[in-house]
Amino acid sequence: MAQTSPNVTIIQQADLTALNTLGVKAKAEKLIEISSIDQLHSLFDSGFFESENPFILGGGSNVLLKKDISRPVLKIDLDGVEIKFEDEKSVIIFAAAGVNWHSLVEWAVQRDFGGIENLALIPGTVGAAPIQNIGAYGVELKDVLISTLYFDTITGEEKTLQNDECEFAYRDSIFKNRLKGKAIVTGIRLRLTKAPHSINSSYRSLSEYLENREISDPTIKDVFEAVVAIRKSKLPDPKLIGNAGSFFKNPVVTAKLYKTLVEKFGDIPGYKISEKEVKIPAGWLIEKAGWKGNRVGKVGTYENQALVLVNHGGATGEELWSHALTIQKSVSKKFGIELAPEVNIVE
Ligand code: EPU
Repeated sequence: MAQTSPNVTIIQQADLTALNTLGVKAKAEKLIEISSIDQLHSLFDSGFFESENPFILGGGSNVLLKKDISRPVLKIDLDGVEIKFEDEKSVIIFAAAGVNWHSLVEWAVQRDFGGIENLALIPGTVGAAPIQNIGAYGVELKDVLISTLYFDTITGEEKTLQNDECEFAYRDSIFKNRLKGKAIVTGIRLRLTKAPHSINSSYRSLSEYLENREISDPTIKDVFEAVVAIRKSKLPDPKLIGNAGSFFKNPVVTAKLYKTLVEKFGDIPGYKISEKEVKIPAGWLIEKAGWKGNRVGKVGTYENQALVLVNHGGATGEELWSHALTIQKSVSKKFGIELAPEVNIVE
């Protein structure tokens, strides 16, 4: 490894078990914790990014570590949330990449700043949020994001991409494509609303939850609490059962194929996303293929949500991946649909 500057500490043979929510036992040959942008400049000046191909780790909630990592791992611990601008209607905030996403949501709801309450309890850090355009219960990060700040590892410059330059799509962005391996997200700017907020409670399980409690005019706090309760009932707590949330993306199929599937399987759910395309819940496909709550050795899927792969304790990355492939093959055989991982698979 290239000579690094004195303000960068390298931890040799670092244990990553507690740093990935699937709880996979894996080691990093070298782990570097980044708590200031100056450290990124120092690494750049020492030629680090030219000679190494580091793996960037945030909250570790969307990765499957297949084995020990020989590339240096950069753990992004940049901290801080600030209000940058404020008027009667909205606030513009900056949040650093290392901030825990859910604590940012709590911070906003406590101050009655609206826009991210539907994204409560998504595990991981702020830095990962724009990379996969996190989304839940009818809201995606792209709906509130103004810009993404990143460190360009090719030129050593700090850069900013405006929302429309981030190429956001369903669980996708420029950072997963053209800028992959070339950008380290350092922070985001969001525009949040002040009351009166525009509440987004149309997602089926959310509206049902609120209706059942006779909340007809929900506040952002009501939505926040509802999302927290729904997520807790459907998704396993990574502190108790290793998991990385949805393991696969919801597949998008042609309207024509969807029609054929409905003729064959009757009640198959689908959300029309355009005249020609329909999104199908992967959880339904996995459940119907017989995998919901099913356990094979140390791995399986969650009993309340088939889309979540779980580590019942002590599973290796290879075991989890092999189980994911089995599920993928089984869904392909039954429905002719290829599921793509939503989780980042690290070789
Ligand atoms: N379903 C089943 N069986 C299951 C799971 C789901 O039949 O075991 C069907 C049901 O028809 C249900 C529908 O799938 O009504 C939708 O389920 P859910 O509301 O749980 O949402 P999802 O489509 O499975 C997506 C996101 C989640 C997000 C929820 C809520 C993806 C890959 N996943 O899941 O995101 O929390 O919507 O908005 O888009 C994540 O990305 O890690 C994640 C958890």
